[in-house]
Amino acid sequence: MEDLKEKAFNLLKNNIKKGYSKNFKRDFFYLSPDSVHFHQWFWDSCFHIIVMSKLDSETAKKEFETLISVQQEDGFIPHIIFWQWRLKDRFQKWWQKEVNSKKTNLFTAEIQPPVIGLSFLEIYKNTKDLEFIKENIGKVEKYYLYLKEKRDPDKDGLISIITPMESGMDMCAHYDIPFGNTKHDPLETKRKITELLTQYKEWNWDLDKIFESSLFDVEDVSFNTIYCLGLYALAELYGTFDKNKQKEIKEWADNVKEKIVHKLWFEEQQIYFSLYHHGASETPMEVKTISSLFPLTLSIPNFHLNHLITHLHNEREFWSPYPVTSVSMDEPSFGPLTDTRHIWRGTSWINTNWFLANGLEKQGYTALAKKIARKTIELVVKFGFCEYYDPFDGHPGKAMKNFGWSTLAIDFIDLLNRN
Ligand code: GLC
Repeated sequence: MEDLKEKAFNLLKNNIKKGYSKNFKRDFFYLSPDSVHFHQWFWDSCFHIIVMSKLDSETAKKEFETLISVQQEDGFIPHIIFWQWRLKDRFQKWWQKEVNSKKTNLFTAEIQPPVIGLSFLEIYKNTKDLEFIKENIGKVEKYYLYLKEKRDPDKDGLISIITPMESGMDMCAHYDIPFGNTKHDPLETKRKITELLTQYKEWNWDLDKIFESSLFDVEDVSFNTIYCLGLYALAELYGTFDKNKQKEIKEWADNVKEKIVHKLWFEEQQIYFSLYHHGASETPMEVKTISSLFPLTLSIPNFHLNHLITHLHNEREFWSPYPVTSVSMDEPSFGPLTDTRHIWRGTSWINTNWFLANGLEKQGYTALAKKIARKTIELVVKFGFCEYYDPFDGHPGKAMKNFGWSTLAIDFIDLLNRN
């Protein structure tokens, strides 16, 4: 197992990108997700920071500082940051649409799941560097305030994402629904995403226009759960030096949790679903995907938790030989399409396993958490740290290799060693 930690450490070190950015006219230091995804991705960086905090906390801090250094006046932190260009980036049609070139072409105009609170807490847990925390906590809070103020158009406490990529689960099957793709043809969803980006680009990514159009306005279960977890992490950090702020942020987090439980739970199907907006109407996206299981990482009512665990541990739904599938196996949209780049349509991913296993352990379901941990470690031992895996035989297919966030699997070594 020590060997696995060393492999993870070497992989992460090999993905370091550093130097002077002509684009930003300053130094940068980050870890790219892999060699193809060469740039800095928001939630990938957040996961690298979580793993690196334990292996080499100075490196983790540097990546954190690079990420937060791009924060805008209003608190926004982008999803992809282009510190350096490569010749081939000119041919990246999606990326060109994802930037608001009226403002800048150096980063995308989208966000990604707000994992940064958890990464920030992990740095503290591993360094106890309160000075670092005090220096940066205002910026992290400002990011969450951005989400609250700019990304909650109906002011119900839940954040809306405006493209599927903002969820980090780009082509996950529940996004077929707002696109009207009832046949669940992945090519159709891809076409719709392209159309969406083209339209947004024409509007210079103006949020007022975007929300007014209701083209894609989704209160996503996993995004909002991660938002809530991030706020709890922030409250915990404030607790080390400012009890009033701790109370304030905890209340905010409790309110978000409350809203997740009340708005996104569907009694008939006994599971959580994301909602999409069309004007004032809200419609559940009734496809069981990994996103539906995320609230088990929060302390939700017991009967919700029991139902989620039943879905998770069901061999006809999410419990494949290498769990946890990103789409429930009994859904017509289930792929898993391991040999294509239509991602998140059934393959198993280590970052989502990490959320679920940690959540289960926290809720006292240690045996189930350990089952996920064991299977995940088996995957990386057999196939290496890949972007995703086939949920039946584990083969990575067209997945990226030497993939940064999959080193989260080494956290499972510690989980297995706990009682
Ligand atoms: C894919 C994933 C996204 C990730 C990115 C870089 O687009 O869906 O979550 O951040 O690759 O690894």
